[in-house]
Amino acid sequence: MGTRRWFVILLLSLFHSLYRRRFFVEGDSFASIAQMEQIVNLEMTLSESLERFVELEKSRLDKVKQFSTSVKEAMNQVKIEGPKSLENPATSYAVIKRFANGWTELGNFLEKDYSNDLRNLLQSNKWQFPTHNEDLLGAMAALFRLQDTYNISAVDMADNNIIGCGAAPKLLAEDCFDLGTVAYQAGRYTQAREWLSLAETFIHKGRHDGAVNRTEVVEYLAWIEYVKGNPERALNLTLEILQLVPHNKQAKENVMHYREMVEQGTRDTHDQIKAKEEEINTNTFKSGKYATLCRGDTSQSTPQGDLNCWYHGQKSPLLLLRPIKVEMVWRKPELLIFRDLLSTKEAERIKELATPKLQRATVFNRQTGKLENADYRVSKSAWLESWDDEVIATVNRRIGAATGLEMDTAEPLQIANYGMAGQYEFHHDFGDPGSPLDLSPNGNRIATVLIYLNDVSRGGYTVFTRAKTYVSPTMGDAAFWYNLKRSGEGDYETEHAACPVLCGNKWVANKWLHIRGQEFRRKCSLNPKE
Ligand SMILES: *[C@@H]1O[C@H](CO)[C@@H](O)[C@H](O)[C@H]1NC(C)=O
Ligand SMILES: *[C@@H]1O[C@H](CO)[C@@H](O)[C@H](O)[C@H]1NC(C)=O
Ligand SMILES: *[C@@H]1O[C@H](CO)[C@@H](O)[C@H](O)[C@H]1NC(C)=O
Repeated sequence: MGTRRWFVILLLSLFHSLYRRRFFVEGDSFASIAQMEQIVNLEMTLSESLERFVELEKSRLDKVKQFSTSVKEAMNQVKIEGPKSLENPATSYAVIKRFANGWTELGNFLEKDYSNDLRNLLQSNKWQFPTHNEDLLGAMAALFRLQDTYNISAVDMADNNIIGCGAAPKLLAEDCFDLGTVAYQAGRYTQAREWLSLAETFIHKGRHDGAVNRTEVVEYLAWIEYVKGNPERALNLTLEILQLVPHNKQAKENVMHYREMVEQGTRDTHDQIKAKEEEINTNTFKSGKYATLCRGDTSQSTPQGDLNCWYHGQKSPLLLLRPIKVEMVWRKPELLIFRDLLSTKEAERIKELATPKLQRATVFNRQTGKLENADYRVSKSAWLESWDDEVIATVNRRIGAATGLEMDTAEPLQIANYGMAGQYEFHHDFGDPGSPLDLSPNGNRIATVLIYLNDVSRGGYTVFTRAKTYVSPTMGDAAFWYNLKRSGEGDYETEHAACPVLCGNKWVANKWLHIRGQEFRRKCSLNPKE
């Protein structure tokens, strides 16, 4: 018998048990804190309604029980005394009364429906419910992203043992099992093994609700071991299953298959090659520039020599009274921070103005020519104009004073809110030659001002993947850099990314300044190095 058949059987059995769990879709998780707050509020309302329903049902059941007890007592009487009891007019009266009142009322009572309110509430808010395919799987993908970026083990995640994050419920074996199987579906075998082993440990410790049993977990673990090139471990695990369930036909067949593999030595099957690739990719990502910088590790960066700071404002009447504290944090490309550019009050006002306008961030798809929701841009954004509110006009004027640049050709202020694991993969802000941004009437994006509107509990750094440096978000501070060299050419050294938010959420305001109007403000140069 060829080994191929065993594969098919084994795969079928795995897919069969996975069927109810559906396949992995790299979804967009609940993208903003505003949206999260909305559904938490909804859950409060639902919880109150559910409690009311339970109370009403309980009192109804109490009344039914009371009646039932009284009927039972009367019947006992009849049983004990026999037909003779009917001779007593009081007994006849009681029987008639029970039918005229009690039983009739019971019928009406049972027709009453206390579940209406709750049911209506559920139905009318259904549109707000997070969905399985998009939101739950998206949330799982977000957890994996956090694990990879911040190098967080499954056990630390499950025990909520993450420095800087608040309290949270601990995960059960069932949660670990779900995460493990979804990771498995996504071909993330290393992560899947970690989560499934944890599920096994938790079952052993009694940290589970009984929805998953050990056999199911070990079946997966065995298969993953096999795929990862350890047929002997796969064999041992499957023998364990047989000890638990001696008549498991599937396990018996798998034992034969694994045994054969141990004897022959493994060959590189398609799955094994895929698993190896996955391991390499994950390790490359974890030790890559992006994740390393997101973890705040700059040991690979080129030292920048002395970096200085100064007060800026003598030249601008706007800043005379409150000069701006400028800090140079990188030389090449030059990266400045304007400390406390905004007050807490101004930041709060901006968030308040943006909240009703937040939309899921979109990107332009060249192939379809349409704007689409983008998976790699897990945030929500809104645009605010000077005339939307006095605070926006003030902030725009202050940016003008701080940068010394023309603001009339700038884009409106863009506000973005990143929720669970919200991130933005690396990119540069200017448009490539010939792109719509490059050809826009005001010219390309000459500079960026990135303002942090809140403190992030953990994560959410802005990392410069080529320059190998980062800025950690601090309420009111703004990062400033030129996207273009003096020659007008794009500076690819400004490539940057927003790291996923590990705890909390993140609000930023972006101001993109354009070339037009800057002729006398930033001198041109043909030196390609400037
Ligand atoms: C474990 O769960 C599976 C699927 O629900 C079931 O078929 C199997 O009998 C269970 N095994 C044990 C040992 O309870
Ligand atoms: C498998 O089990 C055998 C016998 O119990 C043991 O000698 C061997 O070390 C185990 N192999 C692995 C890889 O765990
Ligand atoms: C991740 O953490 C583990 C254990 O905590 C450590 O051994 C490993 O080197 C870390 N990986 C990276 C890329 O930092």
